[in-house]
Amino acid sequence: MTRSRLIAELRMSPPVVLPSLLLCDFGNLAAEVRAVEKAGARALHLDVMDGNFVPNITYGMPIVEAVRRATDLPLDVHLMIAKPEDYIDAFVDAGASILTIHAEAVDDPRPALERIRRRDAVAGLAINPPTRLEAIASALPYCDMVLCMSVAPGWGAQEFDPAALEKLRSLRAQRGDALLLEVDGGVNAETVADCTRAGAQMLVVGSAIFRNGEQTYSESLSQLTALGAQSRSPEGSS
Ligand code: DX5
Ligand code: ZN
Repeated sequence: MTRSRLIAELRMSPPVVLPSLLLCDFGNLAAEVRAVEKAGARALHLDVMDGNFVPNITYGMPIVEAVRRATDLPLDVHLMIAKPEDYIDAFVDAGASILTIHAEAVDDPRPALERIRRRDAVAGLAINPPTRLEAIASALPYCDMVLCMSVAPGWGAQEFDPAALEKLRSLRAQRGDALLLEVDGGVNAETVADCTRAGAQMLVVGSAIFRNGEQTYSESLSQLTALGAQSRSPEGSS
C-alpha cells in the first residue's frame, strides 16, 4: 500500500488500536499475529530496542520480516535505537509500513524522516515523556505521525504518564487532522478515553491486550476501540 493510501486509511474511523507485539508469545509468533488480526486489529506495532538508546533489547529485522510473512496488515515499527538513520532501508525492506524514530536519538530528525518518506513509508517521530514539543517543532513538516510516549520506553506494562496528554492536545490544536497522533505506553480501559479526548487517533496497547486475564483479544480490542471512540475530541473528528 502506498504511503498516502495508508495515511488515509489510518485517519478513517478512528481510533486505531495497535496491538504491541512486545508482550505476545514469541514462540508462536505467526499464530499470535493471525489471532490479533482475526480479533479485528487494523495495524500492528513492533518495538525494536537496541540496549543502547534504551536499556532493554528486543528484536530486529528478522522478526519484522517474520511478522510481514504472517499478515498483510500495516506494520508500525517503533525504533528505540541509536543511529536510526542507518537502519531505515533495512526496516522498510523487512516490511515496515510506518517507521518511527526517536527525536532523542538524532541531532536532526529531518534527513531520516525524508528518507522514510522517499521509501514510501509513513514517517513517524517519537518523543519521550520529558521531551518538550519545542524540540520537534522544526521537524513537524517532515512528519506524517507524532508518537507521544506515555511511559519511558524500554518495557511494557508500565504506568501511564499523563505528560503525553498535554502534548497531544497541543499538537491537535496546532495541526488539526493534518498529523497522525499516536500514544504508546500504559494505554488501557482506564486511560484510553483521555488519550482520544486529547486527540490521539492511534493507540498502542500491549498488556491490556496480551495480559488481560480472561478477556479475549477480540473483547479487549473492541472494548478499547469503543471506549476510545466515545470520547474523541471535537477537534479530532473528521
Ligand atoms: C514501551 C513500548 C510499548 C509497550 C506498550 O517501550 O514502546 O509499545 O509495549 O506496552 P503497554 O501497553 O503494556 O504499556
Ligand atoms: Zn512502542
